[in-house]
Amino acid sequence: MRAHIQKGPQILELLKKKSVGLQHCKPTSSVCVLDSKDAAGSAPCAHSLDSIPGPTNWPLFGSLIELLRKGGLKRQHEALIHYHKKFGKIFQMKLGSFESVHIGAPCLLEALYRKESNYPQRLEIKPWKAYRDLRDEAYGLLILEGKDWQRVRSAFQQKLMKPTEVMKLDGKINEVSADLIKRIGRAQVNGKINDLYFELNKWSFETICYVLYDKRFGLLQDSISDEAMDFITSVKTMMSTFGLMMVTPVELHKTFNTKTWQDHTAAWDRIFSTAKLYIDKNLKRHSNGKTGNFLCDIYHQSHLTKKELYAATTELQVGGVETTANSMLWVIFNLSRNPCAQAKLLKEIEDVVPAGETPRAEHIKNMPYLKACLKESMRVSPSVPFTSRTLEKDTVLGDYTLSKGTVLMINSQAIASNEEYFDNGKQFRPERWLQEKSSINPFAHVPFGIGKRMCIGRRLAELQIQLSLCWILRDYDIVATDHEPVDALHSGTLVPSRELPVAFVRR
Ligand code: HEM
Repeated sequence: MRAHIQKGPQILELLKKKSVGLQHCKPTSSVCVLDSKDAAGSAPCAHSLDSIPGPTNWPLFGSLIELLRKGGLKRQHEALIHYHKKFGKIFQMKLGSFESVHIGAPCLLEALYRKESNYPQRLEIKPWKAYRDLRDEAYGLLILEGKDWQRVRSAFQQKLMKPTEVMKLDGKINEVSADLIKRIGRAQVNGKINDLYFELNKWSFETICYVLYDKRFGLLQDSISDEAMDFITSVKTMMSTFGLMMVTPVELHKTFNTKTWQDHTAAWDRIFSTAKLYIDKNLKRHSNGKTGNFLCDIYHQSHLTKKELYAATTELQVGGVETTANSMLWVIFNLSRNPCAQAKLLKEIEDVVPAGETPRAEHIKNMPYLKACLKESMRVSPSVPFTSRTLEKDTVLGDYTLSKGTVLMINSQAIASNEEYFDNGKQFRPERWLQEKSSINPFAHVPFGIGKRMCIGRRLAELQIQLSLCWILRDYDIVATDHEPVDALHSGTLVPSRELPVAFVRR
C-alpha cells in the first residue's frame, strides 16, 4: 500500500506556495462544524492536493531533517501538534519517500467517518506481513484488509464489543487486579515502585492472556517462569524491532538478513509457538461444541480456520498490552497530580462498592466519575497519538480532493490538546465530561480511533483499567513525589521520558 500523493512541485515552488487550505478559508473559530462540503462526496471548488500547506519539503528527504531537528521520531507527536498550530486543520508532509496528509480537526474526522467504506484500511505494517508470508501464517486484524478483515472482525466483534459479553470478563480481570495489588504491596519501597511501567505491562499481559488462552502465566508473582518471561520478552522484542523496518525497506532487511530482521522473526516464532500451544490446548479441552470458553466459542461459532484463529489471537494479544498498560500508567500519574479528583473518585468507589466486596462490572455502570477520570486522562495523556487510513477512492475532505491511495494520518492527540475544542485543555478536569449540556464534539476525542475499524479491545481495556483503579484506590493514596513535568516520548505508544514520580501510600 503506497502513498499515492500527487508529486508536489520542487522546493522553490513549495517555498513560495500560497496556502489556500481550509484554515485560511475559515476563521479559526472555537467551533469546528461539518460543512456541507465536508460531508458531501464532492465539492465543486475543491483544491488539489498540491495546495495543502506543510513543512519544508526538501528533495529526497522531504521534512525528515526538520523533524529530526525537532527531536526526531520520539518527539514526532509534539512536532505534529506544532504543525497543526502552524498550518491549521490539514497539512501534508513527506518523510523520505513516505508521503502523508495529516488531519487534526473534528469536522474533518467526521467527514472522513461519513465517507468510510465497508473495509477501511490503515497504513500497512509491512514487517508483520513479511513474517507471516515467510512462515505461511495468516494475517490478523491489525494487518488484514478487505472482506477477509471484515470476516475476522465480525468473528471477534460480539465477544469483544458487546457490553454484556465484556462484562462477563470481570472475574478474570479481578483475579489479575488482586495480584497487582499484592505485587504493589511487595514491590514498593517507601511507596515507590521501580519500573512501574514494566509492572503494568505484566498486569495487562497477564490479563489479556487469561482472557484469550484461559491460562495464568504468573507474571505478577515474585518468581516468573522462563516460559512466561520468554513470552513477554518476545512481544517486547517484536514491538521494538518493527519500527525501523517501517521506515526502511523490509525487503532489504530480509535480503541481507539483518540483525533487526533476525530478532523480529525469532520473536514472532516464539510468540506464535506459545500462542498455538495454548490455543490448541483450549480447543482440545472444549472440543465438543458450546463451551463458554472465549476462543473456543469464537472458533465454533465462526468459519475461521485454525490459522486465522492463531493469527487474530496473537494480534489481539499484541494490541492489548502496551496500550492498556500505558493508559493505566498515565491515569495513575494524573490522579497523583490531582488529589481533589482522586478524593472524589475514592468517594464514588466507596459509595458504589460496599466495603469488603469485590468491584464488579455491574458497579462500574454507576460510576460516572470513574469513567470521566479515565476519559480525561486519555485526553490529556493519550497512549496512541494518531491512527491512519489509506483512502480507497478519491475523496473530498474540507477544501481538498485527495486521491485514492493517499495515506491520511488522524492526529487524535493534536485535536484533544487543542484549546479550540477543550477549554483549559492542559488541565485534568474529569468534570468536563459530566456537564449536562456538553459542547464537546464527539470527534474531538477519539483515543480508540473511529468508525468500523476502531479499536476492538476498547471495552475490555476500559473495564480492565476501571476495575483495577477501584482496587488500587481503595488500598492506596497515589501521591506525586515531585512536581517537575514529565513529558512523553513516542515509541509506538507514548511512554514517559523518565520513571514516574509517584508513590503508593497505604490508606
Ligand atoms: C487503552 C487501551 C487501548 C488503546 C488506547 C487502543 C487504541 C487503539 C487504536 C487507536 C486503534 C486504531 C483504531 C483505528 O484505526 O481507528 C486500535 C486498534 C486495535 N486495537 Fe486497540 N487500543 C487499546 C486496547 C486494546 C486491547 C485491550 C486490545 C485487545 C483485546 C486491542 C486490540 C486492537 C486491535 C486488534 C486493533 C485493530 C482493529 C481492526 O483493525 O479491526 N486494543 N487500538
